[in-house]
Amino acid sequence: MGAVKIKEGFYWVGAVDWNVRDFHGYTTHRGTTYNAYLLVDEKIALFDTVKAPFFETLMAHIREVIGDPQKIDYLIINHIEPDHGGAIAKVVEAVKPEKIFCTRNARLGMIGYFHQEDWPFHEVKTGDELKLGRRTVKFIETPMVHWPDSMVSYLPEDKILISQDAFGEHYATSTRFDDEANFCELFQEVAKYYANIVLPFSPQVQKVLKAVQDLKLEIEMICPDHGVIWRKHVKEIIEAYDRWSRYEAKPRVLVMYDTMWNSTEKMAWAVYEGVVKEGVEAELFKLSVSDETELMAEVMEAKALAIGSSTLNNGLLPTVAGFTTYMKGLRPRKKLGLAFGSYGWSGEAVKHLNKIFEETKTEIVHEGFKVKYAPTAEDLKQCEELGKLLAKKVKETCGA
Ligand code: FEO
Repeated sequence: MGAVKIKEGFYWVGAVDWNVRDFHGYTTHRGTTYNAYLLVDEKIALFDTVKAPFFETLMAHIREVIGDPQKIDYLIINHIEPDHGGAIAKVVEAVKPEKIFCTRNARLGMIGYFHQEDWPFHEVKTGDELKLGRRTVKFIETPMVHWPDSMVSYLPEDKILISQDAFGEHYATSTRFDDEANFCELFQEVAKYYANIVLPFSPQVQKVLKAVQDLKLEIEMICPDHGVIWRKHVKEIIEAYDRWSRYEAKPRVLVMYDTMWNSTEKMAWAVYEGVVKEGVEAELFKLSVSDETELMAEVMEAKALAIGSSTLNNGLLPTVAGFTTYMKGLRPRKKLGLAFGSYGWSGEAVKHLNKIFEETKTEIVHEGFKVKYAPTAEDLKQCEELGKLLAKKVKETCGA
């Protein structure tokens, strides 16, 4: 696709990556985009670049709009992660910008990546402004949303927020705006993106949302560095970020487990039955056949997690250890937890799972339940009762 005019003098010049399926471990079933934006005024500014292999696409889009890329005066780098910054060195060589506007951490990061201390860096802080002619760019630092270098750029005359990773999603589309995309798919991808990329930085997201409020920024359009441009559902996406960053969850229980000889699986089904009988929505996932990235979005949205593992070599099954390690790093909070599992002779899995709950500040609703070898009918009844207990607690805390 070619460059896309977003508003008079403001263009999308990025690239669509239809074929990426693994984004540093994140499964991108619907591809992604690397968005860059060109603002043409008395001065011309390019906001962010693209992943290195898409440099030529970026250049072709820039040429469509202004002919010679060397007409660009300023490079504005909101975020240096290589999916946006991979092409910076080639862009600097091709464009020869008069100045590169970025935060102090972005300058240090670019020197770390490209080892070019003599580039024309110009450090900015929250509240700094750049006049391009009729238009102004206001900078707002957003450290850790997504990296220490991150900032967003606001165009007050057009009420546009250029938001780098924030409000983005991995979603390749042939159209550029939210109202042209499948809304259901789009919101699935936004939630998945938040859960797998932004969730650990939720306290910082709250600070950014507060800063936007304090600065009284009116936002009519959000232009992120991935996925669609928000122009119709701006309010909804900001509200979703507020909800997710406050760890609000739905009255729902996820039963996640893996099993060696089906004993833990039987326990998982009994816990699930208990939750459902108590009238609370439940979902059941066997970790060896589940997509971790997709599952993390479910974790974010669910109030309670029941996790089961057989004990293997005094520890957890590798699939359970792997997923819970990944989950712990993404710092879910304000959950309810229940651990269960079968064992042959030592039975440490429940203890390990409870430790993970403690590390994620999850409220443990019961000490957990372990069964030697295979569960009896009585054991399964007990699992069902624990499912009911968890569901009751969900109803209590969610007011459902
Ligand atoms: Fe899309 Fe943090 O990079």
